[in-house]
Amino acid sequence: MEDYHLLIDLHKRANRQGPGGDAETEEALSLALVDRAAPLKIADIGSGTGASTLVLARLLEAQITAVDFLQDFLDVLKERAEGMAVSEKVTTLCCSMDKLPFRDEAYDVIWSEGAIYNIGFEKGVRDWNRYLKVGGRLVVSEITWITASRPSELQKYWEGEYPEIDVASSKMGVLEKNGYSPIGYFVLPEHCWLANYYRPMQNSFTDFLNRNGNGEDARAIVEAENQEIELYEKYKTYYSYGVYIARKLD
Ligand SMILES: C[S@@+](CC[C@H](N)C(=O)[O-])C[C@H]1O[C@@H](n2cnc3c(N)ncnc32)[C@H](O)[C@@H]1O
Repeated sequence: MEDYHLLIDLHKRANRQGPGGDAETEEALSLALVDRAAPLKIADIGSGTGASTLVLARLLEAQITAVDFLQDFLDVLKERAEGMAVSEKVTTLCCSMDKLPFRDEAYDVIWSEGAIYNIGFEKGVRDWNRYLKVGGRLVVSEITWITASRPSELQKYWEGEYPEIDVASSKMGVLEKNGYSPIGYFVLPEHCWLANYYRPMQNSFTDFLNRNGNGEDARAIVEAENQEIELYEKYKTYYSYGVYIARKLD
């Protein structure tokens, strides 16, 4: 996120800042097998404007700390929580995900949708492990190859963007090496990318450009987003977000 002002302006009005869906957040929660009536403590890391935080707040009797390093997103999240009458369940924390001020074993659940790549999957799951109670759950979505091989153009692109991209079996191995037992996994379906994320973004481009004087930097952002969308549309059978659900071991 090199130009935060413009990227915030593009993304903060959207329901979500990455691929996903309310039903898929709920599916991950079901696979996590948590007691929905218990007073769980949850950290939602890289929460954006609250796509997953608000689903969890609606479904659980939990105290949720929504963490993001962009205060503008957290301000929107707070307003949305008030609008849904769940604000008493949600606290926001403006902080980088690699400098979390949490106590050891403070949380029952660590949740993170479409965000852990910012510090890398392996570093994230290793560093965050200590904040979870033993038996606590990690629920994290991560860009994942969904086939064993893929066209070299695509392989090259992702190796440049995010060299940690891998198949699910490797990601599960990373979880196992870092103190977790995987208990569930599924792949985000196409509508999580197109209907829930890319199409609303595309529909906002004209207003975004108008608000920003159709300037060069704004146009470059739209161009980059359009290229990312084109790549997804061409190669969507090869990659998606995998949603990983794991239990912290002793
Ligand atoms: C792709 S968005 C996903 C947001 C949200 N979870 C969702 O699914 O809509 C990634 C989020 O991570 C946040 N982020 C990026 N780097 C971060 C960091 N180092 N620490 C905390 N948050 C970060 C961004 O501000 C953004 O809100």
